[in-house]
Amino acid sequence: MDKEVTAESIIEAFAYRANIRGMAHEPTRLRFMQTRFEPIEASSTGASRDEIAIPCPAMKTASLRQPTIMLLGSGELGKEFVICAKRLGCRVVAVDRYPDAPAMQVADACEVIDMLEAASVRAIVKKHNPRYVVPEIEAIRTEALTAIEKSGVTVIPSARAAHLTMHRDAIRSLAARVLKLPTARFAYASSEGELAGAVQRIGLPCVIKPVMSSSGKGQSVARIAGDITKSWKYAIDGMRGDTKTVIVEEFINFDYEITLLTVKQRASSGGKSFFVPPIGHRQERGDYQESWMPCAMPPQLIKKAQRMAKKITDEIAGPEGAGIFGVEFFVRGKEVIFSELSPRPHDTGMVTMISQDMSEFELHLRAVLGLPIPKLTLRGPSASAVILAPREIRGEPAYAGISDALRTQGVEIRIFGKPSARPYRRMGVALATGKTVADARRNAARAAACVRVVEGRDR
Ligand SMILES: Nc1ncnc2c1ncn2[C@@H]1O[C@H](COP(=O)(O)OP(=O)(O)OP(=O)(O)O)[C@@H](O)[C@H]1O
Ligand SMILES: [Mg+2]
Repeated sequence: MDKEVTAESIIEAFAYRANIRGMAHEPTRLRFMQTRFEPIEASSTGASRDEIAIPCPAMKTASLRQPTIMLLGSGELGKEFVICAKRLGCRVVAVDRYPDAPAMQVADACEVIDMLEAASVRAIVKKHNPRYVVPEIEAIRTEALTAIEKSGVTVIPSARAAHLTMHRDAIRSLAARVLKLPTARFAYASSEGELAGAVQRIGLPCVIKPVMSSSGKGQSVARIAGDITKSWKYAIDGMRGDTKTVIVEEFINFDYEITLLTVKQRASSGGKSFFVPPIGHRQERGDYQESWMPCAMPPQLIKKAQRMAKKITDEIAGPEGAGIFGVEFFVRGKEVIFSELSPRPHDTGMVTMISQDMSEFELHLRAVLGLPIPKLTLRGPSASAVILAPREIRGEPAYAGISDALRTQGVEIRIFGKPSARPYRRMGVALATGKTVADARRNAARAAACVRVVEGRDR
């Protein structure tokens, strides 16, 4: 156990690791629960049509001139965000490491760079002079974001939040050791030998993940001691960046898991945090397969999750940090266990494109721009199911079966427009409503199964 663990010591440690010594981080005092906490009362179970009251005081109006937004990462979540931004007349520059990424297809301009190179990130910010830089992925040289923020550009929700969440171990140490949130027991290991020791301390089965990765990449469950070598290799092959460190987590046999979308508005404009009702989801290979709303969850457990989400989002983003967060929890009996969070829209939150009037992308945009978010209207039982590529397809893929998918009332399809496919790559999502959550999930799964990712695009 660390002698004295503070948010600053964690940030220092990770600044060191990212080889960004010398970057002066603003000293941040821990705020814990000093800020007022006013969770909204959200009906947790089956309300078919619901309106969620969101505290919306008379917010100071944001600038009327539509800004330039630079999106770092241009996947499917970014694409939906850009569509919302374009509807409100913003100018958007979409950035990714490969051309024709989904969000680039709907943006005003695009840049193809390696976002892990600080100089490249700084150069495109200088070129386009955006008012907001919105990270859409974790793999960004956060040193550059800190410098950009210091130069007066608003980084969403803050450079510090992007920095901490990029490293699984940084955010976990902060959550468990500084904020004292309940988490799975965990240990870190930087070699196969250390991993064996860590697994012994945590016990089997356990989950082994690279500290830098997402969407389940490099993640495996070790069930017997003989799995350790395989898990180490798998983690090293699936990791991003150059940090050969893994986190070993106690395997939580949860009853269900949720994403709590938490919207944070700037304190200076009178905005408060509020929560979208929990989203239930199912994962395979550490990757999201389907999600649904509403997710049946006792109100007192929702409150627990909300308190934790408020605590950690306030801590990492500070009073002026604005935007949506996907805060992930496991629920086991009466325990609500913090897992991790994204300081941006969440893949499981794609269900909000059908479940409510303002999707997670619209909420993110409004929070970023400081626009009012008066109230959320829920549309009843809703679900999303992913459309995955079955195999490698080099050129631009085509999609068969969309017309079959769309035969069912309440079904919508989103094709992301990725320029190539590989096994299990997420290529689209089916969205559906239904009479019940089970019905909505069935409709979404059926629609997703209709759509096949195939070779060769028709004229
Ligand atoms: N300690 C654990 N016990 C049980 N299941 C776990 C544990 N950790 C992760 N999982 C399962 O694996 C999924 C993915 O894990 P996690 O969210 O940590 O990975 P990720 O790569 O960050 O995924 P994403 O980027 O899609 O959120 C979880 O949603 C959960 O279903
Ligand atoms: Mg996750």
